[in-house]
Amino acid sequence: MAPLEIKKDIYWVGALDWNVRDFHGYSTPKGTTYNAYLVIDEKITLFDTVKKPFKNTLIERISEIIDPKKIDYLVVNHVEMDHSGSVPDIVELIGPEKVVCSPMGKKALLEHYHRDDWPFHVVETGQTLKLGKKTVSFLETRMLHWPDSMMSYIPEDKLLLSSDAFGEHWATSQRFDDEVEPVELYAHAAKYYANILLLYSPLVQKVLAKVAEMGIEIDMIAPDHGIVWRKDPGGIIRAYQRWSRQESGRKALVIYDTMWQATELMANAVGEGLKSEGVDFKILNLKLNHRSDIVAEMLDSRALVLGSPTINNGIMPMVGDLLTYMKGLRPAGKVGAAFGSYGWSGEAVKIISEAMREMNINLVSEGVRVKYSPRKEDLDKCFELGRQVARAALAVETAPAPKRPGS
Ligand code: FEO
Repeated sequence: MAPLEIKKDIYWVGALDWNVRDFHGYSTPKGTTYNAYLVIDEKITLFDTVKKPFKNTLIERISEIIDPKKIDYLVVNHVEMDHSGSVPDIVELIGPEKVVCSPMGKKALLEHYHRDDWPFHVVETGQTLKLGKKTVSFLETRMLHWPDSMMSYIPEDKLLLSSDAFGEHWATSQRFDDEVEPVELYAHAAKYYANILLLYSPLVQKVLAKVAEMGIEIDMIAPDHGIVWRKDPGGIIRAYQRWSRQESGRKALVIYDTMWQATELMANAVGEGLKSEGVDFKILNLKLNHRSDIVAEMLDSRALVLGSPTINNGIMPMVGDLLTYMKGLRPAGKVGAAFGSYGWSGEAVKIISEAMREMNINLVSEGVRVKYSPRKEDLDKCFELGRQVARAALAVETAPAPKRPGS
């Protein structure tokens, strides 16, 4: 189990999880990594651990460098169990002089593991810890994405250990941004942002502004998931600036479920209407596209048109699933509408419209309902709905840009 030196005397000692396919509702078709980092200095320091089943991998990698019992400090940047799951065993094994964490980190560690005998050393933003030649400076990032979250910065190496931020769920044998295909890398990073950080976008902007204000020079970003940014750490910072402003392009999503293909025919007509006004679109059948991939597509989409047939006076289950997931992630600055077929009661369009309104999606109309199978005139109405949505999306583009913090 070879470790990898990412900077002089700083090693990646994490674990690759090739087989995980679900991360609490987020599909991970290419697995993930749990990154941990070991700093060799007068005080040997481990930053984060790994998910519990990978504990032995972590210990074996560390053992290639030093006897794990020589570790002096364990820094817990984040208590979610994909990073802290091995903390109890590691503390038991190494008997650290300090378990370093944020104030909320201590609280969360106690609430998870109930061990008030651990040698907690609580740090707040701006506090430092001398390791020897190297220093660690701490930056609390509360609610990015848990209350306990913090980042660690080693100024001598201009290295930011960024916890969950700037990561991806992607297992690769490569460890650096310059070793992988950039298009795939940014697709994974965008999906990660859309599914985990989108709702905290205003906080992301504040943290990025704080980092700029503190004049922190960053030469490398080492997150707790995915690859290490050594060639272009500025690239992912700029992407976070863009994503956190929820800037979107001339792109629309037509998302639907269907029973007997009537709502599917309507979706296709809506798409044609969007395109006729110059807005690109993607049609996404909920039975074939995972919610977490749809949310990733939403990141740069300005318009969302959602369709469902009416079933049992309600909406299709997968439409409800998506609406629930979307609501939690709080997409901003979108326009949209609803559509769907029905047999006798026809509540689906109203239900979807209400849910979209609750999410502050600007609805362009009351939507289009079609009884059983659409006739040509019904499809013309769907085409016109697509045109209306497209015009509203283009109007957003030409409106003055809203003033945003940190921009
Ligand atoms: Fe990767 Fe929030 O844990």
